Amino acid sequence: MQFEVFSLLPEVFPSYLETSIIKRARERGLINVRVHNIRDYTHDKHHMTDDTPFGGGGGMVMKPGPVFEAIESVLELVTPPSLPQPFDQTQDKPESNIPIILLTPQGRVFNQTIAQELSQHPRLALLCGRYEGVDERIREHLVTDEISIGDYVLTGGELPALILIDAIARILPDVLGDPTGAQDDSHAMGLLEYPHYTRPPEFRGWKAPDVLLSGDHAKIEKWRREQALLRTFNKRPDMLEKTELTKEDLKFVESLKHALSNVEGSKVERP
Ligand code: ADE
Repeated sequence: MQFEVFSLLPEVFPSYLETSIIKRARERGLINVRVHNIRDYTHDKHHMTDDTPFGGGGGMVMKPGPVFEAIESVLELVTPPSLPQPFDQTQDKPESNIPIILLTPQGRVFNQTIAQELSQHPRLALLCGRYEGVDERIREHLVTDEISIGDYVLTGGELPALILIDAIARILPDVLGDPTGAQDDSHAMGLLEYPHYTRPPEFRGWKAPDVLLSGDHAKIEKWRREQALLRTFNKRPDMLEKTELTKEDLKFVESLKHALSNVEGSKVERP
C-alpha cells in the first residue's frame, strides 16, 4: 500500500513513521509512505503557499496552484480544462482511480468501516489542510473525498493523516505479528473489545478472572463474547443497534436490559 502525503509540514511525519509497527511494516515493504512538501511546487520568490481570503476576513487560505501542481505531478494526473459555467463543475475532476483525500473537519467522520474501505486501494493521496482552509477550487476540482477524524478542529491535517495511515496499515495483511490481531479489535466486529489481563494473576489483591486461567477455551470464548457485549451495552449502546447479533447474544443483551431495570444508575457491573 502506497501513501502519498501532501503537506506544508513534512517534518511532522518521520518520528512516528520510524516507530514500532509502522516502521516494521515499511521496512518489510508492506506499506510505503512518501511525504511531499507542497512548498516545493511554488514558483515565486517567497515560495508562498497561502494568501488572504477574497472578500476579506481573518486568516489565510491555501493557494490552489501549488496544491494542484504537487498532486498532479506526483500522481501523474491530467486535470481537464474547466468547463463553461452551465456544465456541472464537479465533472471536471482529474481521471484518477487513486482516492485524493482532503483531511478536514468538514469531511465524513473516520471510523473502522472507512479504514477497511480505504485499505482496499493500492495507493492513497492524503492532502493535509492548513491555515483557515483550502481554496474551494481544490475541493471542487481535485479532491475526491474529504475525511474528518472527529468533531473538533486541529491546526492542520497532519495528525489526521497519520491517524489514517496507522488505522489502515494495521489492518493490512501481515502488518500485525498476530494474524488474528485486528479481527478482535474494538469496532472491527461491531463491538468494543473484551477486557485483557496478564501476569501476575493477582495484583494488589485484585484478581484476574478465574475463567481466563482455567484453560477451558470454550468457556473463555463465551466469557469474552459476553464481556464485549457488556462493555458495549454500558459504554456504546448505539453500536449494539447496528451490529448483527446471534440468538445467544440477544438473549444475553436481554438479560442485561433486565438487570439494568433492577439497578440504580445506568451501568450493569461485570459478573
Ligand atoms: N484538520 C483540522 N481539524 C481536522 C479534523 N478534525 N479532522 C481532519 N482534518 C482536520
